[in-house]
Amino acid sequence: MVERSGPPYRLALPEPGQTYEQDVEYCVLDTGSGWEEYRFHDYDRLYRVPGLYEKLFYDILQCQSPPVVCDLLAAHLGEPAGLALSDVRVLDVGAGNGIVAEELRSRGVGAVVGIDIIPEARAAAERDRPGVYADYHVVDLTALDDDKAETIAAGGFDAMTCVAALGFGDIPPEAFRVAFDMVAVDGIVAFTLRDDFLTDGDTTGFAGLIGSMLGSGELEQLGSTVYQHRLATSRDPLHYRAVVARKRSARV
Ligand SMILES: C[S@@+](CC[C@H](N)C(=O)[O-])C[C@H]1O[C@@H](n2cnc3c(N)ncnc32)[C@H](O)[C@@H]1O
Repeated sequence: MVERSGPPYRLALPEPGQTYEQDVEYCVLDTGSGWEEYRFHDYDRLYRVPGLYEKLFYDILQCQSPPVVCDLLAAHLGEPAGLALSDVRVLDVGAGNGIVAEELRSRGVGAVVGIDIIPEARAAAERDRPGVYADYHVVDLTALDDDKAETIAAGGFDAMTCVAALGFGDIPPEAFRVAFDMVAVDGIVAFTLRDDFLTDGDTTGFAGLIGSMLGSGELEQLGSTVYQHRLATSRDPLHYRAVVARKRSARV
């Protein structure tokens, strides 16, 4: 194990070279009462420890997704879309503790509204990045009643981000669809997916959903880039695709 220290916890990762699928990757953490295993998808436990998410994914595993996606989105918002960035309102889906919102606000985006399924994400965003979200909804997008969906959509969104949150037991295709329906026609969406989730062999349902939205003309792809999302715990690079697209019409 490689041990990394830093108050107020000790953190260690599996030896490089041991390979795990992303939804079973883990670290071990000692916050003062002994080592405990934390799966990377135990977001509620990770967010409860201030600074742990940033230490693990950004400092150690070199996550690049928020700046890559926010640069791609910003390049298609503002002047190209005929909008002042300061007037743009973005719906950030699978928002977590607010890293994407911070990146958007630092690029001049006027307002960001977050959605996440767990209350610990909103609590961590309020604790670590107070004021970065204009609003933050803790909801399950797969079980949203019409009133709540209308209340969120009434926020009037020119854009949507969904960063490092699709697939792997996180946001399923039907939840992505529900969030997409909240974005205004002509709005810009930017999201990341593991590169193979958009290929013919995909079994997650995302290739089918995105393919049918592109095929029907509901979605127009504006750009896409393959980049290093982060390192796996094996220390091998994980490649994702970032996509930016325009919503051309409401659901067809
Ligand atoms: C890897 S984190 C990414 C957080 C943030 N987008 C970032 O880039 O730092 C994935 C987030 O998606 C959230 N999530 C998982 N399933 C979800 C769902 N069905 N609806 C909304 N959020 C979900 C998790 O709670 C977690 O906060």
